[in-house]
Amino acid sequence: MITKTLLHIIAFGIFCMFMIYCNYVELNEFVEKRNNLRLSQVRSVLQKLSKDSKNAKFNDIPLVLIMCQNKGSIFQSSTASGNRLQWQRQKEQFKTLFGSLLYFSNLAQIRVLLFTDSAKTSAELLSSLAKWPRYQRSRLTFELHNIPTEMLHREQLMQWRPCAWAKMFLGEMLPDFDSVIYLDSDVVFLGPVEDLWDIFSKMNTSQSIAAGSEPWYVEEGRKRPAAGTYGINTGMLAMNLTRLRSAVDAGLGETLQNIIVDQDPPPRHDQDALNIFLVDRPEMLHELSARYNFIPSSCLKVAPKCKDCTEKGILVLHGADSSFYRLVDAKSKDIYHILYEATDTLEDSLPQLLGKLEHQMSYIDSQGSRFTFMCQHYENYNQQLLHHARAMVASTLS
Ligand SMILES: *[C@@H]1O[C@H](CO)[C@@H](O)[C@H](O)[C@H]1NC(C)=O
Ligand SMILES: *[C@@H]1O[C@H](CO)[C@@H](O)[C@H](O)[C@H]1NC(C)=O
Repeated sequence: MITKTLLHIIAFGIFCMFMIYCNYVELNEFVEKRNNLRLSQVRSVLQKLSKDSKNAKFNDIPLVLIMCQNKGSIFQSSTASGNRLQWQRQKEQFKTLFGSLLYFSNLAQIRVLLFTDSAKTSAELLSSLAKWPRYQRSRLTFELHNIPTEMLHREQLMQWRPCAWAKMFLGEMLPDFDSVIYLDSDVVFLGPVEDLWDIFSKMNTSQSIAAGSEPWYVEEGRKRPAAGTYGINTGMLAMNLTRLRSAVDAGLGETLQNIIVDQDPPPRHDQDALNIFLVDRPEMLHELSARYNFIPSSCLKVAPKCKDCTEKGILVLHGADSSFYRLVDAKSKDIYHILYEATDTLEDSLPQLLGKLEHQMSYIDSQGSRFTFMCQHYENYNQQLLHHARAMVASTLS
């Protein structure tokens, strides 16, 4: 009888200890899970939420691209084979631009206005994104528009590149839009597109165009009018169209058309024309650092020091003058080509992508003077190019 009771007590004791142990393990696991969650997931979710809400105000400011296949009536160009090559590159750049944008952005939805010379052009561009996973593809909302040729169809413009000129008519082309961010098709993102929207909050009430500098104007000895401190490049423009429309009665495009008539030397392109215009209207220009539009000439000795690039990283890398396709600067060209390959399927994770970029930058450095390129002696170049990628990878690992 006594032994039976004793056995029960012992059994009950063992049972209790077992339960306490189980609870302990479970509790520990729970705490660990919660810690993991708190440390990585929750933080990144919170960061994402606060980022999204911080930019909520600007979420309806669209990106704008204007692209032509250079075929058809007013967009006819001289050589057919040169055209095909050009068009092939443009499609590659289109895919690389938007793929890189998705790699570095936290946004679930990004609005893009795509102006083209024909529905066929738009269809071909969009089909270059066909290999992407559906959820990535769905983050971009493309609104398709035709370039209003009647606005551009005039003899003067025909000698230039009407497709490139079209961006100067955005105020008229988009009468219902307050602001847009215009991008050339030969740019890639190395950081979050979200940062572009912050530009608008730094513009004062007379500034309607924000642009980065084009130090070539200074390098050439200021033979041509150069707006701002160094001249401006039109590869990335944050434009407040409301202000632009109210400051320029006839419209910017129309006004530039009149300006270029008796210029000496004659402007080479729409960028020269915009520089000429803004020299006399400095209050309309908001000058940006090279962080927002880094071109090979940003490495010239005469170029402004980009403190912003070192501290925050280059955000937009611009392959101006086909420099993603010819050896002007080895690092930016190779970065483009790594991004071009990764954005075919978007399968690489950001750490994998960063690994490839780091590897290639070290390789170029190890080759020393075997390569001649424009940014060879530019200080902290790797850090400026990879800052955003390194920071984003580090924040997901910690
Ligand atoms: C553009 O300018 C107008 C007029 O100054 C202003 O009301 C509007 O908020 C500006 N838009 C942005 C995005 O800053
Ligand atoms: C905006 O800033 C520019 C450049 O500093 C200046 O020329 C202009 O007068 C400013 N406009 C206003 C309304 O403060």
